[in-house]
Amino acid sequence: MSSKKIALVTGANKGIGFETARQLAAKGITVLLGARDEKPGLEAAETLKKEGLDVQFLQLDVNDPASQDNAAKFIADKFGKLDILINNAGVARDFQVPRLKARRNNGVRTFETNLFSLISLTQKCCRWSKRAMPGRS
Ligand SMILES: NC(=O)c1ccc[n+]([C@@H]2O[C@H](COP(=O)([O-])OP(=O)(O)OC[C@H]3O[C@@H](n4cnc5c(N)ncnc54)[C@H](OP(=O)(O)O)[C@@H]3O)[C@@H](O)[C@H]2O)c1
Repeated sequence: MSSKKIALVTGANKGIGFETARQLAAKGITVLLGARDEKPGLEAAETLKKEGLDVQFLQLDVNDPASQDNAAKFIADKFGKLDILINNAGVARDFQVPRLKARRNNGVRTFETNLFSLISLTQKCCRWSKRAMPGRS
């Protein structure tokens, strides 16, 4: 098992997630930069690698159970633990639309991404975080 701490940041190809990945890696943590699309994910990881940071792209669409499973398996196979999970990926569909005009499907998508996917990903990653922190229930 790696002696370095391992972190996964979801939705880290831009915005707050990208900066969070940068700041964690700057503390000497190995960061898995989660992104649903390969091109922006690889580009973001490359930008941070050029800063001398230990960052690698991990394909992860938080709304796709198969993508979640693949990410959890990758973490298990390569690191055998996960110290930090940053559930950053999120959407705010119809955020600026008057409430009476907001569409149901956009609300469902927002809750799916920001809540239910977060719960299932956390559950899948939890077994690896327990290995990183024995004694946690
Ligand atoms: N900025 C604010 O003022 C603010 C306020 C309150 C809460 N937040 C929350 O903070 C988090 C980051 O905000 P931000 O301003 O950095 O937002 P952002 O710039 O829109 O970035 C959101 C990130 O989430 C990713 N994402 C969305 N759906 C995804 C999915 N299904 N699977 C994987 N990645 C997905 C996006 O990927 P793509 O590039 O592929 O779309 C992007 O990388 C979000 O959860 C947001 O709701 C932000």
